[in-house]
Amino acid sequence: MAKNTTRFVCQACGAVSAKWAGRCEVCAEWNTIAEEPAESRPGPAARPGRKLALETLAGSADPPPRLLTGIGELDRVLGGGLVAASAVLVGGDPGIGKSTLLLQAAASLARAGKKVLYVSGEEAAEQIRMRARRLGLADAPLSLAASINARDIAAVLESERDLSMAVIDSIQTMWLDNIESAPGTVTQVRASAFELIRIAKQRGFSLVLVGHVTKEGTLAGPRVLEHMVDSVLHFEGDRGHQFRILRGTKNRFGATDEIGVFEMTDRGLTEVLNPSALFLAERRGHIAGSAVFAGLEGSRPVLLEIQALLSANPGGSPRRSVVGWDGSRLAMLLAVLEARCDLKLAGLDVYLNVAGGLRISEPAADLAVAAALTSAATGKPTDAGAVYFGEVGLSGEVRQVAQAEARLKEAAKLGFERAVLPRRVARGNRAAVAEGLTVNEVGHLADLVQQFTK
Ligand code: TYD
Ligand code: MG
Repeated sequence: MAKNTTRFVCQACGAVSAKWAGRCEVCAEWNTIAEEPAESRPGPAARPGRKLALETLAGSADPPPRLLTGIGELDRVLGGGLVAASAVLVGGDPGIGKSTLLLQAAASLARAGKKVLYVSGEEAAEQIRMRARRLGLADAPLSLAASINARDIAAVLESERDLSMAVIDSIQTMWLDNIESAPGTVTQVRASAFELIRIAKQRGFSLVLVGHVTKEGTLAGPRVLEHMVDSVLHFEGDRGHQFRILRGTKNRFGATDEIGVFEMTDRGLTEVLNPSALFLAERRGHIAGSAVFAGLEGSRPVLLEIQALLSANPGGSPRRSVVGWDGSRLAMLLAVLEARCDLKLAGLDVYLNVAGGLRISEPAADLAVAAALTSAATGKPTDAGAVYFGEVGLSGEVRQVAQAEARLKEAAKLGFERAVLPRRVARGNRAAVAEGLTVNEVGHLADLVQQFTK
């Protein structure tokens, strides 16, 4: 029988094909297929399958034990701390601060008397020591290793007793000697991760894998990795800004919509306990085209400034440029403003920006975006003491959104005096009055536009 010695593996999704192609047929990514040595075929089973002990749904259902890292923002995104015998993948662009965050978390746990192992495949031990000194963590009793050999690391993990947490920085550098593919290929990454995760589950420690992100924003190569771990956290933020956002995108043990906010300082990452104040810090009131959105990130209210700029486009098709929000949502809102509220926007370039670099995915931002656009179109500033929230429908109606009370509380806390919100958020209104805010109910987007044009 002819035996294939190589095969072609998509580095994005892990699909295997017999021949090379420019585009993966499974995930439709371009230029992701690479040649790898064929894996050895499984031989006959060494032993017949053993019968499993079956269980019922109503078994003992204690919540899994949690380990608090002492970094509150990280613990929140994890859903209340690290879970024993679980694997977490932390992804993010190079240089965003993954190693820094995890070294801080590892050191904090070590100081609390837990046994922690930090393995770096990217940096030498001396480099990590230097970073620890810079962070003021040099005295933390954590064990350090610099290695890319997944088998050696597995041996350490198997032999360490009472290990609480192990950090592998990064999984893309790891390498198993019985697999012929090069380090960083999807086969290597998957096999190394599988081996390390297996040990974590067996020995009961929390495994944290660091993963790099490609230009397209997916975890490089190991999209397959996301299925293997219990939680996936993304560390994001742009280098121009000091702050970083940790966002959970998968969590088998908690909610996925929580964010943690950090600031990168010369002494590492510090937690930002009041993100709204940070996001609004550079806001200048009384400028046309700016409105404050009372948003919600997970369970936490966050105030953000939304900025709009319109400029005449002499011919050609007008530009629509959005940073931090959904482009098709903007197109819809522009159409509603034109068709239902008589606002002339055709032939104008529209630029929309969520100041500070956060990405909003809530439809509740519609009203604030509409206010920023209307303000830009009329040249009249929005009320600097007002926050906006509400979803806008296609006929221009303003709809209620969840958790009005939490949004209003946050607005009052930051010194805002007025809230522009959907009609009939009765409970929200009571909360607003209790917080000393005046409310301005809008039932239709045209009511809002009128406030600028009258
Ligand atoms: P790092 O944690 O190495 O990023 P990653 O592991 O995600 O690649 O962070 C690197 C950046 O952080 C680097 O540009 C320097 C900066 N930094 C600080 O600003 N302050 C600090 O205390 C540290 C340790 C790093
Ligand atoms: Mg790093």
